[in-house]
Amino acid sequence: MKQVVTLALILSGFLFSCTSSKQVSTGGAIKTVIPARPSGQQDVLQLKTDPLPVVRVAFIGLGMRGPGAVQRMTHIPGVEIVALCDVLEKNTRKVNAMLEQRGFPKAQEFFGDTTVWRQVTALPNVDLVYVATDWLSHARIGVQAMKDGKHVAIEVPAAMTLDEIWALINTSEQTRKHCIQLENCVYDFFELTCLNMAQHGLFGEILHAEGAYIHGLQPYWEQYWNNWRMDFNRKHRGDVYPTHGIGPVCQALNIHRGDKMNFLVSVDTKAVGNPAFIKKHTGEEVKDFRNGDHTMTMIRTEKGKTILIQHDVTSPRPYNRLYQLSGTKGFANKYPIEGLLFDTEGMEEGVIPDHENLNTHAFVPRETRVALMEQYKHPIAKEIEGLARKVGGHGGMDFIMDYRLIYCLQRGLPLDMDVYDLAEWCCLIPLTELSLDNGSLPVEIPDFTRGGWNKIQGLEFAR
Ligand SMILES: NC(=O)c1ccc[n+]([C@@H]2O[C@H](COP(=O)([O-])OP(=O)(O)OC[C@H]3O[C@@H](n4cnc5c(N)ncnc54)[C@H](O)[C@@H]3O)[C@@H](O)[C@H]2O)c1
Repeated sequence: MKQVVTLALILSGFLFSCTSSKQVSTGGAIKTVIPARPSGQQDVLQLKTDPLPVVRVAFIGLGMRGPGAVQRMTHIPGVEIVALCDVLEKNTRKVNAMLEQRGFPKAQEFFGDTTVWRQVTALPNVDLVYVATDWLSHARIGVQAMKDGKHVAIEVPAAMTLDEIWALINTSEQTRKHCIQLENCVYDFFELTCLNMAQHGLFGEILHAEGAYIHGLQPYWEQYWNNWRMDFNRKHRGDVYPTHGIGPVCQALNIHRGDKMNFLVSVDTKAVGNPAFIKKHTGEEVKDFRNGDHTMTMIRTEKGKTILIQHDVTSPRPYNRLYQLSGTKGFANKYPIEGLLFDTEGMEEGVIPDHENLNTHAFVPRETRVALMEQYKHPIAKEIEGLARKVGGHGGMDFIMDYRLIYCLQRGLPLDMDVYDLAEWCCLIPLTELSLDNGSLPVEIPDFTRGGWNKIQGLEFAR
């Protein structure tokens, strides 16, 4: 599908009339084509599939990220690890040795080149293909896995272009197979608890949210297979890694579960840090580096909410995903310090311990926060926290992600994240680039559900 972009500027500029949330005009925004849903094809909202008491998993991509996923899966009952695949033989062998060492049967090995994964998606004894390769191969493998009758779980970002996003959506809708993006940050204990608080109304109506991926990748750049990550940053402007920032805030804002993102606007700095890194490590004088050091993206939703997302993988700054929820009655902040703030007016007595101590302009005291975090611990965290902290993976959130995926597949339940979440969170990659390449013009965010964004009211994790 050729991406068709209509630049429709009205009047002398790209004016927004924002007198109320109902009267927002996106006239002048860049629009991308929403391909019509083929006849006979239906959406996969709340998709249920046949229960799989035993889930047979094949892993493709065993670099820095993949082996941890294999290890985590060995802690989940009812999982069989049947195939391991990587371009590099040594990576496949190393993970198989780990399986053997831990007393599990050896998996079938596939290695040698960048197309050997096709044998894996075609295997008859696989239910789930788990993909942790470089960004450019994700969607291709995902589409083929579903066509070969498998559910597919793809590391972040699962798709890099609108064509890839629509291909994943259409294939999931056609095949009725799950296509989940492995966004682990939605399972961070703080994010899960805040989601639960939000769903209990503690923040009132959430009007604004922020998220980010601010993480200096200097120790990793040279570890990536074939230099894929630096190469992608070199070739692309925009927020190329948005899902950790946008995923958790979209869940709190019920995106495609009663609201939808309407448009975005991006601005970025010039590129300094990464070209300097390349010069220092290779001597190359880089003149064509596209990705700015810092990219900021603003989004407005149908229901009049705003989101700010940032990306910075080069500046000397502490790791930061921001995660801020700002509502009519309260505020949550994860980085750099965890904090909760509540406007006590109108709160039911007893809902917040020590509420007479609260100050609307300050975070609640530490003890209050700790008590609230305990009181509003998400039911999923309550269920699996102990094992998650033991198995680990970014403090346990990676394990909760894998656990929930298998839990739902085993019971035939809808997954916590669907292919439309994948689409909404990944679309920032091509759409921020489009905005930046057109002088920061607003860009419409497609309704990837093609009309279904208001069918479900609120996010629920199936139990
Ligand atoms: N969710 C998170 O917190 C998190 C953390 C780190 C990485 N990631 C994501 O995980 C993915 C992998 O990242 P990484 O750090 O492991 O990168 P990496 O370069 O270390 O590993 C990628 C692996 O994929 C293999 N590979 C590449 N193409 C392949 C193909 N066609 N067939 C089979 N194997 C192939 C490579 O040989 C390599 O071993 C990326 O999408 C990344 O963004 C997510």
